[in-house]
Amino acid sequence: MKGLILAAGLGTRLRPITSLRPKPTISVANRPLIHYAVDDLLDAGIDEVGVVVSPDTEADLRAALEPYAERASFAFVVQDPPEGLAHAVLVARDFLGDDPFVMYLSDNLFEHGIRPFVEAFHAGEPGPNAVLALVRVADPRAFGVAQIQDGRVTALVEKPEVPPSDLAVAGVYVFDRSIHDAIDGLPRGAKDEYQITDAIARLIDRGGRVVPVEVTGYWKDTGKPEDVLDANRLELSRLRRDVRGTVEHADLIGEVVIDEGATVRNATVVGPARIGPGATVADAYVGPFTSLGAGVELVDAEIEYAVVGAGSTIRGVAGRIQGSLIGEDVAVVATTRRPATHRLTVGDKSRIELAES
Ligand code: G1P
Repeated sequence: MKGLILAAGLGTRLRPITSLRPKPTISVANRPLIHYAVDDLLDAGIDEVGVVVSPDTEADLRAALEPYAERASFAFVVQDPPEGLAHAVLVARDFLGDDPFVMYLSDNLFEHGIRPFVEAFHAGEPGPNAVLALVRVADPRAFGVAQIQDGRVTALVEKPEVPPSDLAVAGVYVFDRSIHDAIDGLPRGAKDEYQITDAIARLIDRGGRVVPVEVTGYWKDTGKPEDVLDANRLELSRLRRDVRGTVEHADLIGEVVIDEGATVRNATVVGPARIGPGATVADAYVGPFTSLGAGVELVDAEIEYAVVGAGSTIRGVAGRIQGSLIGEDVAVVATTRRPATHRLTVGDKSRIELAES
């Protein structure tokens, strides 16, 4: 069985975080998002992986996957322009051949991995043509929505205004080769794209057997900044205390990870939190659900429920920073110049909320 990670999307809802980097490389608990997908595939015994990229994202994704070079083989397939998930499968056809495969949307996180879906695919004789991971959600209108009956998916619709059930399609699918016939000649659907949801609906209409498996544990689709913060919270909650850096005059409370080469001085860190390699936390407070990337400097400042990208500096900030997603090599510092005003150099689509002082 092969894996197919879809990583060609533009991540527009996450700008400016995604202005300079592909969404699958953004950091969740100090790891690139795409590493979670690769880990899940490896855990399910899949080490031959196609990665669907765009011309702009290929180089960054190749670099992000280098740590896995010994454990998996990657084939990069360019989708240009990205015209939907079914289109991604179409452009990956040569890589996939007639093998069964797991399609994994790279912005999804599954607490318990993907093994149950792969196992369901192998169960029974003959096995199903496809397995869908489903989650009950309060408002399924932003997702593919499934109807099930007698252990089969009987209908499927993409982002319906009036959902036929509360079962959202999560971003992992297992397919046999029959999905390619269903994609062949598929008309464009929602958002004027070739929707995998429509292809699967076609497969069902043609008598294909599509089996639902409900997701256990958390599932997170990281489309928006608040989703990334929540994903970071969820992944940090799985950490256990591990202190490798230097700690001087500091209170470490709960599950705190301090990576090699990091320094924590005159500070309080309340976990779950992760301080990345080479980071400095001095005269500072780090509260729960915070990740500081490699080399971050947090000095004379307080932060919680936040993600701070590698190389960023936060210094001398009055008031606590909270609920914040900060990119790489960003400076948030007290001014030492006159006039002592707010002085901003901020990229397009950024958002800054200042508390009243
Ligand atoms: C895609 C699929 C949708 C699915 C969702 C899961 O939508 O089209 O059916 O429910 O992923 O994350 P997107 O998030 O790309 O809009």
